[in-house]
Amino acid sequence: MELLDAIYSRRAVREFTEDDVEEAQLRALIDAAIQAPSAVNRQPWCFSVVRDRALLARISREAKAHMLRSSPAALISHHFEQLLSDEAFDIFYHAPALIVISSVEDGPWAVPDCALAAQNLMLAARDAMLGSCWIGFAQGWLGTSEGKAALELPAGCVPVAPIIVGHPKVKAMAPVPRKAPEIHWIG
Ligand SMILES: Cc1cc2nc3c(=O)[nH]c(=O)nc-3n(C[C@H](O)[C@H](O)[C@H](O)COP(=O)(O)O)c2cc1C
Repeated sequence: MELLDAIYSRRAVREFTEDDVEEAQLRALIDAAIQAPSAVNRQPWCFSVVRDRALLARISREAKAHMLRSSPAALISHHFEQLLSDEAFDIFYHAPALIVISSVEDGPWAVPDCALAAQNLMLAARDAMLGSCWIGFAQGWLGTSEGKAALELPAGCVPVAPIIVGHPKVKAMAPVPRKAPEIHWIG
């Protein structure tokens, strides 16, 4: 797939088939992720791949409870509160795999570096006709000591980008509208 086709046709995928994603395919996504640029070429990331369905279900449960406990009421809309209180709602949409990109060092650039790796990974998934979606709902709980233990991460690592991956139920999704960019042409 051409790069611009991947950029324009990538969508947040929230419906997956039952099929697992082969290990070699997940590995190829991580290989694409690490081609991202990083400040001073520090490559300050590590990757946790979760395919254990019971663990995915546990992370979803814990993350929902954590969001409800820790998000200020003003930030949680009625819709989100209902969603997060719904036992049947799986924040991972029953995807067969979750790849969490975590920063392995402090400093001002580690988080943007991991986000760049995340975008590479999601575009590579699109190229491979896999579906992906960054799941921000998972981030809070994964950053707790319990969450890091579940991902077998050392205390100094910080989960930045939890991304689900699977085979999409729908092969081509409708575009999601974008706001016109606010551009300040200087000079
Ligand atoms: C940082 C970040 C966090 C996100 N968190 C969630 C999430 O928790 N659940 C979800 O369904 N989608 C999540 N998304 C996906 C966005 O909702 C989606 O990218 C956006 O609606 C635009 O749609 P598109 O990706 O198909 O263009 C997240 C995306 C980003 C970049």
